[in-house]
Amino acid sequence: MAITTDVLVGQLATEQPLSTRVFARHGIDYCCGGGRPLSEVCDEMGLDADTIVAELEKELKEPGDTTRWDEAPVDKLIDHILEVYHVPLWEELDRLDAMARKVLAVHGDKRPEMLSGIVEVFAEVKADLDQHMHKEEEILFPMIKAGQGKDAGGPINVMNREHEEVGEALRRLRLLTNQYEVPEEACNTWRALWHGLAAMEKDLHQHIHLENNILFPRALEG
Ligand SMILES: [Fe+2]
Ligand SMILES: [Fe+2]
Repeated sequence: MAITTDVLVGQLATEQPLSTRVFARHGIDYCCGGGRPLSEVCDEMGLDADTIVAELEKELKEPGDTTRWDEAPVDKLIDHILEVYHVPLWEELDRLDAMARKVLAVHGDKRPEMLSGIVEVFAEVKADLDQHMHKEEEILFPMIKAGQGKDAGGPINVMNREHEEVGEALRRLRLLTNQYEVPEEACNTWRALWHGLAAMEKDLHQHIHLENNILFPRALEG
């Protein structure tokens, strides 16, 4: 497919999986905000759409994981989501929560609003994702694997809504952290926290994209 500024970001992420590297680099949301044209998203974020198109063209020439998850068996896609995104995320939620609290406790006097805001928003994200992933792992994914995806419209709507909420919280974290720019006075744990949060955002965008734009529509088709 030709890449133009009119392309829908979610569709490009589905058909050209490597495009998500470019989106991640610029913090472009292609999972929940995926139904919108690139030009609109770039305008909103103050990015130059033509520059992004050029970057996309360059990225897509390079070799990498190009699995077409819209064509692979649904069971395999679920296993991939669990193994690559759920398992590490369970660990990261605890690790980042502890780190955020530690940085607040030790350096709270330097950036009180920023650091307490992060602890607060992260606690919300953690609680929400905890419930959300339990529902996917225990109810929705087994339903889809059992071939009952067509009857899962209700749970899928709930998951989509929760994804929106996670997306919103990630945007708040991005703002609070100044787009993950590490402050000069940051110690190693502080730096590692920024790095970990940015990596979590990147993984969650890909994770939610695979669910919203590929798994759920395919499950509903039956
Ligand atoms: Fe998930
Ligand atoms: Fe999900």
